Amino acid sequence: MKVVVIGGTGLIGSKLVNKLREHGHEALPAAPNTGVNTLTGEGLAEVLTGASVVVDVSNSPSWEDSAVLNFFETSTRNLLSYEDAAAVGHHVALSVVGTDRLSESGYFRAKIAQEKLIKESSIPYTIVQATQFFEFLKGLADISMVGDKVHLPPVLFQPMSADDVASAVGRIAVEAPINGTVEIGGPEQFRVDELVRRRLAALKDFREVIADPNARYSGAKLSEKTLIPGNNARLGETRFETWLTQPAAQAQKAA
Ligand SMILES: NC(=O)c1ccc[n+]([C@@H]2O[C@H](COP(=O)([O-])OP(=O)(O)OC[C@H]3O[C@@H](n4cnc5c(N)ncnc54)[C@H](OP(=O)(O)O)[C@@H]3O)[C@@H](O)[C@H]2O)c1
Repeated sequence: MKVVVIGGTGLIGSKLVNKLREHGHEALPAAPNTGVNTLTGEGLAEVLTGASVVVDVSNSPSWEDSAVLNFFETSTRNLLSYEDAAAVGHHVALSVVGTDRLSESGYFRAKIAQEKLIKESSIPYTIVQATQFFEFLKGLADISMVGDKVHLPPVLFQPMSADDVASAVGRIAVEAPINGTVEIGGPEQFRVDELVRRRLAALKDFREVIADPNARYSGAKLSEKTLIPGNNARLGETRFETWLTQPAAQAQKAA
């Protein structure tokens, strides 16, 4: 099966391309540095020729409110229109668990807009909503600074490894479209502040993490279960302590 992976050079995309190829599929990474730009349409007609499935795991280079909205709206509109012309049979997009509950955040308003365009299009689709990646825990600290301290709400979350995200998206990409949403998550629940504190300790990053019920996540106020997937979520296998011992976590440490 020919599968085009938009954002196929990124964290999830590069893992996904490898996994699809291991399963015998023709997986093509598509990103600006492979000559495909979803904002301008450059290279899209060529790369989509003969494709059965398009998986969109791209992300906006800027998370500023209007830039990120423009990225997901323009790129999704372009993709869906070129997919229609190429008779692509399945559009798969990676989104985030709880997106519809996070509209106070500019980033999540952009993901809501992306999902809406997909749902309203004529292309059969599956939206995969994943929980936060373990690889994102340090980034979460970086976007949650107040002065020199990390402020995070002590609410529940259920993050997962990027490897497990890529495996799940790869399986879903070669299944039939469900014209709906599948949730995926990690095998364990934590408190956000607790796990970020553990991640920073493992990185020997000595920033203090404050449990602050009023702290926002990407601009949005969270309640106890905002970030938690429902009972039907497919769960990855990798536990946090196991992931910490893996090369991906160690490489982040070196970086
Ligand atoms: N972080 C989390 O915890 C989390 C949780 C759930 C879901 N997600 C979702 O997962 C998705 C992927 O995240 P990620 O961390 O794997 O992203 P990433 O590593 O930042 O990769 C983004 C990819 O998008 C490509 N891209 C950027 N602009 C493009 C354009 N104009 N045309 C085509 N491709 C373009 C990039 O190519 P270049 O490198 O060449 O620019 C790169 O391949 C996002 O949609 C995000 O919302 C994230």
